[in-house]
Amino acid sequence: MLLKQADRMHSVQKSIIRQIFEAAQGKAINLGLGEIQFDMPQLLRNRAADVALNENCRYTENAGMKEFRDQVAVYYNNEIESEGVCITCGAAEAIHSCFTAYVNPGDEVMLADPTFLAYEASIKLNNGLPVYYRLDPDQGFCLDKEDFVAKISPKTRIVVICNPSNPLSKCLTVAELEFMADVCAQNNIMIICDEIYRELTYIPRQPSILDIYENSIAISGLSKAYCMTGWRIGWAASRITDYIKPIVVAHQYQSTCAPYISQKVGTLALSEAGRGTICQIKEQLTANYDLITDYFATRLPDIEYLPPDAAPYLFIRVDRDDTKLAAELSAKGVIVIPGCAFGQNGKNWIRISYALDTRLLIQGLDILASSLIE
Ligand SMILES: Cc1ncc(COP(=O)(O)O)c(C=O)c1O
Repeated sequence: MLLKQADRMHSVQKSIIRQIFEAAQGKAINLGLGEIQFDMPQLLRNRAADVALNENCRYTENAGMKEFRDQVAVYYNNEIESEGVCITCGAAEAIHSCFTAYVNPGDEVMLADPTFLAYEASIKLNNGLPVYYRLDPDQGFCLDKEDFVAKISPKTRIVVICNPSNPLSKCLTVAELEFMADVCAQNNIMIICDEIYRELTYIPRQPSILDIYENSIAISGLSKAYCMTGWRIGWAASRITDYIKPIVVAHQYQSTCAPYISQKVGTLALSEAGRGTICQIKEQLTANYDLITDYFATRLPDIEYLPPDAAPYLFIRVDRDDTKLAAELSAKGVIVIPGCAFGQNGKNWIRISYALDTRLLIQGLDILASSLIE
């Protein structure tokens, strides 16, 4: 008889996003992917080639190469030390390692509704209880402060923030962040803030949570701003170096260390020259965003979308069953993500990503328009 999966696996399933991809036609236009589908900057590719040819890619320190951690500290204006950084296999692993390090069975971890869906699964796999605070769809998804306070309980251990938000591409205001930080300070709660889209804002770059609240961990990485999803490189960082120590241990037993080659590339990516490459990616994203806003203004003037503060998502109000609409669009050859995949408050909305080839984007929008204005 085959061994049954562990009980904890019953609380999670393959994400709705993955299920949609798998059900879609092979040639479907993908407006669903949470990936910037542009080329990784040449400067960084050259560095990777150089490292592959001339260095032996071995294990590194579990917490990551000192030179890379130093660069991460510089990224946070030296407000943190390199011991306050753990380099991980993508932001996804940083998130998971944080929960492994800090969530006890039965602890409550607060998440926005809607938000990135990996948090819930990761909390459950670490035997924690996700509790949702409301971002109000009728108020541009701003924080419902009353609801936030009401959801805090003696069991609340961590509040998770995704800023800028996936799926909303919207930033919380500094006032909202300060409000959350004050409430957390009064209740001795840690904030984990996923800032992976921070470099892709159209509005001025937002402060990190590390600038606002000491009892916090910032999560980030290179997947989005440098188009490096396949290099699996991210980090957890805190002003409190002791916070990082158990995360390094959790990370050690998950992956030993992040890939050597990705850490070398990452060190260059965070240097001044490397950071300059983000501009080209942002230019492409801005061009696509301009295209999409023109498209909506001329072809879909009655369809509401949430004005984004950052790339690469557009959250569109469809005022009908978003899951059915996503299935209908998938049958027509375009993948979009139903808003309910990110929480109840995402119901009747869909998320599209516009970080792809312009020609495909227009084709995808034409199919979307055919369903929205039928
Ligand atoms: C909000 C957010 N955090 C983390 C991740 C995962 O990033 P990484 O590729 O660095 O693991 C994603 C990927 O879509 C994301 O949207």
